[in-house]
Amino acid sequence: MTVNAVYSRRMEGPLFTMIMGNTFWNTTISISLCSGTAGSPLVKKHIEPQEQVGSLPFSRSENVGSHLSITVVGASGDLARKKIFPALFALYYEDWLPENFTVVGYARTKMTDEELGNMISKTLTCRIDQRANCNDKMDQFLKRCFYHSGQYNSEEHFAELNSKLEEKEAGKLSNRLFYLSIPPNIFVDVVKCASLRASSAKGWTRVIVEKPFGRDSKSSGELTRCLKQYLTEDQIFRIDHYLGKELVENLSVLRFSNLVFEPLWSRNYIRNVQLIFSEDFGTEGRGGYFDNYGIIRDIMQNHLLQILALFAMETPVSLDAEDIRNEKVKVLRSMRPLRLEDVVIGQYKGHSKGGKSYPAYTDDPTVPNDSLTPTFAAAALFIHNARWDGVPFLMKAGKALHTRRAEIRVQFRHVPGNLYKRNFGTDLDKATNELVLRVQPDEAIYLKINNKVPGLGMRLDRSDLNLLYRSRYPREIPDAYERLLLDAIEGERRLFIRSDELNAAWALFTPLLNELEEKKIVPELYPYGSRGPVGAHYLSAKHNVRWGDLSGD
Ligand code: BG6
Repeated sequence: MTVNAVYSRRMEGPLFTMIMGNTFWNTTISISLCSGTAGSPLVKKHIEPQEQVGSLPFSRSENVGSHLSITVVGASGDLARKKIFPALFALYYEDWLPENFTVVGYARTKMTDEELGNMISKTLTCRIDQRANCNDKMDQFLKRCFYHSGQYNSEEHFAELNSKLEEKEAGKLSNRLFYLSIPPNIFVDVVKCASLRASSAKGWTRVIVEKPFGRDSKSSGELTRCLKQYLTEDQIFRIDHYLGKELVENLSVLRFSNLVFEPLWSRNYIRNVQLIFSEDFGTEGRGGYFDNYGIIRDIMQNHLLQILALFAMETPVSLDAEDIRNEKVKVLRSMRPLRLEDVVIGQYKGHSKGGKSYPAYTDDPTVPNDSLTPTFAAAALFIHNARWDGVPFLMKAGKALHTRRAEIRVQFRHVPGNLYKRNFGTDLDKATNELVLRVQPDEAIYLKINNKVPGLGMRLDRSDLNLLYRSRYPREIPDAYERLLLDAIEGERRLFIRSDELNAAWALFTPLLNELEEKKIVPELYPYGSRGPVGAHYLSAKHNVRWGDLSGD
């Protein structure tokens, strides 16, 4: 029932699509421990309505008459301004929000409703392809936005918020969504106050949280335990914004609804899989946060690992969230925890080019001069199951590299007994097929094939079968946060991380992270704007892999 209802939304467009943290603060963060007392009785009080209503996903017809209150906690922060409010406006603009809704910004800063409106109006944009009534729509949206100033650990202030929400809800059945756009050391305080003082009395109450979810297995487990004193697992929506990206969502469609791919999806035909993330800027302004986490926790343990799990999972029983997440957990639990020899780490150093100088990571005033925090890492992972045994899954993630991109590369095996072998010279690897899903920028899916160069001779050429999104789908692609916010509103959990998934992800990385820290492993330096440390090539060569992103396309 859930799946069909949700799919009705998904199948509206010209084609149907299938399934499923950002950390903009720059302070050094530690996870605060919660009290060891048993869960509040209020958890129970709020489960029942939440579960009753939670099983009915939001759809415009079903929710006529109810009210949706969205509280953005940490409203004056960067993430809220740059991502959350614009995503909410985009949903409103495209008519995805229910008729009755209110958005409340909550933060410590003193601000009026009007000041909040001025602040967020600077980042709201209308879709390029639908500019009609843009200003009117913005005005109407801003009329639904209010501000409430309060401390993050004050039950009294959340009780005041509750009164404000009740006033806006005007006696209607209300559903409440809290988006925690705050540092993790205050997650539990906010969840406690919101749960005890500002939960919906009759409708559902859901909380979206962003990474970091701890910094290792222990602290993550502790955070989950603390959150669960006040919320049920069903109420917690752990966001990984990479799962909301168009191409990541398309991964399963590509695989499960095209006969030409799924039969090849195994060790029999796939030689290696590469998950690549690079940014052409450093940690400028975020060094304080980043230094406590590093690239492995910031990108690999979540964004890249989530993509890997989706890529490698067995066919789920259905598209239902639990079925998909069950399969993802199985993949994660089939993986061997990483060891030091599976990984290369790097850190960017200052560099001058074309008369411009670029800073080293340690030039950031919020980063200690002797920091060993990696800003680059490459890793080789293996899945010990029948489908993937022996296939290297290589990950590479780095800041301050030569380009900004995120992609998934699948390199296929050689054609056995290839009739055209002699046309390829000695380097047969160059002649294997490669499937590339370019997640960003300039979304595309292309397959590298061998092709005959037209003419009388027999010359072969590497060519691409290319699905370039901007040519095929000229419509603007929604931001990941739009999809994820809408899913949370609809109670669709496929794209959110369940606690057992999170535990499995940490189990994989924690031994390595501990070893790196205990042995004080020194990262290999690479110049700002380069292709990263040479060690990444040795790592791939050890596994007989050639990084696909270095071939110049
Ligand atoms: C965040 C990381 O989760 O993702 C940042 O904390 C990174 O360090 C960001 O810059 C990248 O997201 P996107 O969507 O811009 O690729």
